[in-house]
Amino acid sequence: MRKITLVGAGRVGESTAQILAREELARELVLIDINGDAARGIALDIQESAPLFGFDTRLRGGDEHELLEGSDLVVISAGRPRKPGMSRADLREANLAVVLPIVDSIREHAPDAMILMVTNPVDVLTYAAWKRTGWPRQRVFGLSGVLDSTRMASFLAKETGFSVKDIRALVIGGHGDAMVPLARFSTINGIPVTHFLDEETLGRINEKTRQGGAEILALKQTSSAYDAPAASIAAMVDAIARSRRRILPCVAVLDGEYGQHDIAMGVPVVLGPGGMEQVVELPLTEREQEALERSAEGLRKLIDEGALT
Ligand code: 2OP
Repeated sequence: MRKITLVGAGRVGESTAQILAREELARELVLIDINGDAARGIALDIQESAPLFGFDTRLRGGDEHELLEGSDLVVISAGRPRKPGMSRADLREANLAVVLPIVDSIREHAPDAMILMVTNPVDVLTYAAWKRTGWPRQRVFGLSGVLDSTRMASFLAKETGFSVKDIRALVIGGHGDAMVPLARFSTINGIPVTHFLDEETLGRINEKTRQGGAEILALKQTSSAYDAPAASIAAMVDAIARSRRRILPCVAVLDGEYGQHDIAMGVPVVLGPGGMEQVVELPLTEREQEALERSAEGLRKLIDEGALT
């Protein structure tokens, strides 16, 4: 890609910038933050590591929204993080107020860009951004399932003692307590995890996955997770920038898939040069479909109450 812009230079933005620069996923990487000097400082710091890591990505930072110009992809992580005891949904009003003006700036300065939403509640904000832009749903999507699935995969690796290299996990639904980990579609080198782990253990892993973000926040107290989120964003950017067409669970606007309309939630999609190229519909059991519908109901309530439809 020619240019990627990260709006929000907090810990998630900074860690993401480090990975994208090192992986040379764009020729130019820009960090924008309300605190322009912090964004400039982070850009400089990462740039000065380039001779050691050997990357040619050029970094810039600032607070001017004109820096968005020419972006192929904009990653939004600006906004308030959770404090211990808060749910992601508690951030809705505060972060809508942060994110919608950013979306307006993207429309003005980078009308052909794709938007990757990270700010929470990510499903609600992805939907709000999509509505605000009026763009095709292929160009507005969000982070959720890659992060939740890497958490689940790491718990599966710990429980089984097998290499993470062989483990694939799949989590769909909202990025919240009602997310839907799918053990049936989680495998160890192609073998369903249900072959190795009993229902009780899988139930425990599912719950640990649902609480993954909250567990880290409760331990760190002053910061949410940012290492696994940044690695997850980088995996999504890599799929797009390197035209891989990977199947990854992401927040996508649904148009009838899984029986859902007018909502954005986590589902497996094809992620490639065209952005969210296609929603992959899985044959869910009645129980899995019910869990997904419960998750969708919670999100729809947040969307309706936020007057976003
Ligand atoms: C997480 O799950 C912050 O939502 C993010 O860690």
